[in-house]
Amino acid sequence: MTNLKTITSLAKRRGFFFPSSTIYGGLANVWDYGPLGVELARNIKNLWWKFFIHQEDNMFGFDAAILMNPQVWVASGHTTSFNDPLVECQSCHKRLRADHLIEDQLKIKVEGLDPQELDKIIQENHLKCPFCGGDKFTPTRKFNLLFKTYIGPVEDNKHQVYLRGETAQGMFVNFLNILNTFSPSLPFGIGQIGKAFRNEITPGNFIFRLIEFNQMEIEYFVPPKEWKKYYQMWEEKIEKWMKMLKVKKSHWRWRQHSKEELSHYSKLTKDTEYLYPFGFKELYGLAYRTDFDLRNHSQQSGQDLRYTDPQTREKFFPHVIEPSFGLERTVLMLLLEHYVEDKENSRVYLDLPPYLAPYTVGVFPLVKNKPKLVQLSKKIYNQLKENFPTTWDNNGNIGKRYRRQDEIGTPYTITVDYQSLEDHTVTIRERNSMKQERLEIVQLVNYLKTKVEGQK
Ligand code: GAP
Repeated sequence: MTNLKTITSLAKRRGFFFPSSTIYGGLANVWDYGPLGVELARNIKNLWWKFFIHQEDNMFGFDAAILMNPQVWVASGHTTSFNDPLVECQSCHKRLRADHLIEDQLKIKVEGLDPQELDKIIQENHLKCPFCGGDKFTPTRKFNLLFKTYIGPVEDNKHQVYLRGETAQGMFVNFLNILNTFSPSLPFGIGQIGKAFRNEITPGNFIFRLIEFNQMEIEYFVPPKEWKKYYQMWEEKIEKWMKMLKVKKSHWRWRQHSKEELSHYSKLTKDTEYLYPFGFKELYGLAYRTDFDLRNHSQQSGQDLRYTDPQTREKFFPHVIEPSFGLERTVLMLLLEHYVEDKENSRVYLDLPPYLAPYTVGVFPLVKNKPKLVQLSKKIYNQLKENFPTTWDNNGNIGKRYRRQDEIGTPYTITVDYQSLEDHTVTIRERNSMKQERLEIVQLVNYLKTKVEGQK
């Protein structure tokens, strides 16, 4: 299992992620996407959009604003129920999640237990603060995760709004707009990719638990009696998605939430858990949200959010199946899953599928100070970048350039040498096998297209 330090260091060194506002000493647990991270993330988002939105029937893409009327979060239950249990160490005053404190030290799952029950477990087992070893904690209290801000110059309750804690609500409150504009029949879905914010008590593990992150979510509206069939359909789709990401089956699993652990809106949730270096942890969630959200928004807003059956004219609230995917947890999983230490060849490579790698192809002149080689390689580079994310490198010797591209996962690299000037061929090297073959320059685009498509 690849360790987190190795991946964090690679990600920073090679420009996948940088700590936010580094020149001011950073901001804890906030990360900026660097040039390679942003390409990898974009490839994941595009693949997700294609697979879950474009290739699906009756699916509507969406992009709701982050700020919403604060009543949305009252109706959704987030202002009262979107809480984590907080304790403070009385010696060092570090704040911790009570359930995580217990889970880490006793290896039992206690998410969702009442504060009193958590306190009892902490005291009976004499749990210690992981920072200072102290064993006195304040009683557990519920801490709301919603970030607050204000619209306008007056900072009072009337002007308070929230940064959304999940993208989901933007889609629920637009349910009626979709019904009125597109008149879809059940089942249909609304899907969105966007930022969510949570004032997490203990963020960390690089980009695993963030306070600002991206969700890729679908609210799938179904006839109430058929929810089980559609829940299963989504389980199968998620399994296909994991295959597309080329994640080994032994590295992930399903885990059903216990009753105590279920979110306030869910009757059934199964997490897709990935084997991160710190254990099997939630990667994605698949929740059966019933009609909780539509019913509450209907009551709170006074708008009728019921669907009318086109045949029977019966009016009812559809039920919702919600697959929810964290983008940064996907990025972290991919970096861990595809990191390969190839000791035999003294190199490291990222075995990313070509359709996810930040660059599909790199182009190098064999030597950098031969104008004719540079000219021809630039010409090839310019042609290729019309078709693929392409990078150019003429720094250091050719071996070093291969190693650099291997380490960031570039699946193909092209070297332009003296023979290229004579016969219009180049060598193309495949990352994993390091095999090289000679190809005519005119064949390159088709060759790469076939390779990239063929591995999907
Ligand atoms: N709309 C449902 C919802 O938000 P969730 O289980 O709280 O459900 C969904 O979040 C997904 O969002 C998680 O499975 C995870 O991938 C991602 N996620 C949640 N909290 C996160 C955090 N603090 N940092 C990074 N990703 C997070």
